[in-house]
Amino acid sequence: MYLCGPRNRENSVQAPTTVRHPLAGADAGASFIKLAMETPQGGTALQRLDGDAYAQAATQLKEPESRHALRAALTGCGAGALARELGGSALEVNEFQAWGLGARQLLADAGQPLDRFLLVSVGTGTSALLVEPRGTQRVGGTALGGGTLLGLADALLDSRDFGEIVRLAEQGDRGCVDLLVEDLYPEGAPGLPGSLNAASFGKLARGLPARPADRAHALLGLLGENIGMLCAALATQHRVAHVVFGGGTLRDNARLCDLLRAICLAEGHQPLLLQDGEFVGAVGALVHAREHTLEPAGS
Ligand SMILES: Nc1ncnc2c1ncn2[C@@H]1O[C@H](COP(=O)(O)OP(=O)(O)OP(=O)(O)O)[C@@H](O)[C@H]1O
Ligand SMILES: [Mg+2]
Repeated sequence: MYLCGPRNRENSVQAPTTVRHPLAGADAGASFIKLAMETPQGGTALQRLDGDAYAQAATQLKEPESRHALRAALTGCGAGALARELGGSALEVNEFQAWGLGARQLLADAGQPLDRFLLVSVGTGTSALLVEPRGTQRVGGTALGGGTLLGLADALLDSRDFGEIVRLAEQGDRGCVDLLVEDLYPEGAPGLPGSLNAASFGKLARGLPARPADRAHALLGLLGENIGMLCAALATQHRVAHVVFGGGTLRDNARLCDLLRAICLAEGHQPLLLQDGEFVGAVGALVHAREHTLEPAGS
């Protein structure tokens, strides 16, 4: 009844059709499942579930009254598992394509549409995508991401609690952990500011004491500096002015966002931190569902 037609039809062109049931997009990532669901009021409800909560996600993707699945498009590394949980009643869309569609939608909603930009997903890992009118392609990335944050925090702070790590970092001073240029050149280094980080965690290698808060701050510094520098270099290489950031690792994480912003600006690029940025893929999948849903014959 609610089947949207064959999967992986992102290149096909559809005539507009009448949609009787609400649509949804789901981004099943390595850490979390993100849902974007049309509401009867004409809005979009966003919801995040644990990464292995496929059964719960499938329940959410069903209309409460008829128990029919919403017409859903799925993306992310867990899209296949979620499709199986839904009984195959979903479209699948490539993750990078979904991110491109979702970012365009969220930028337009925010009154700031862009034609061409670098889009960075700071999820469990990090991907950098070039979004252009002709499509979206992955142009780079790094294995430094939110999974690194939690994994290293476990080793360094004995905590995998994201909120606690971020709160700790807000009270910390990474200068007690990182080896700065001024530590190496007390008289001043030629052409380099003394506050520049010379070696992340370099002071720990010298056996200097550091509070958990300082380590947490240094951890965000390690991520922010490396992700920021990589993305700024990619933006320069691909001649884009704007770098747009999303992904769950940036959620309520002001210090990491500030670092990414500052590095992009210092390298001559315009940073944009998307509100609801962890839902970019889910929103993009919803856009894909809107563009590719056919009313099944006889429904
Ligand atoms: N409450 C939280 N608990 C645990 N991690 C959180 C929380 N809030 C934010 N995070 C961060 O969000 C990251 C996951 O972000 P996101 O949901 O965008 O990734 P994903 O889509 O599952 O992964 P990927 O895109 O790499 O497949 C985690 O690695 C973690 O650092
Ligand atoms: Mg993701």
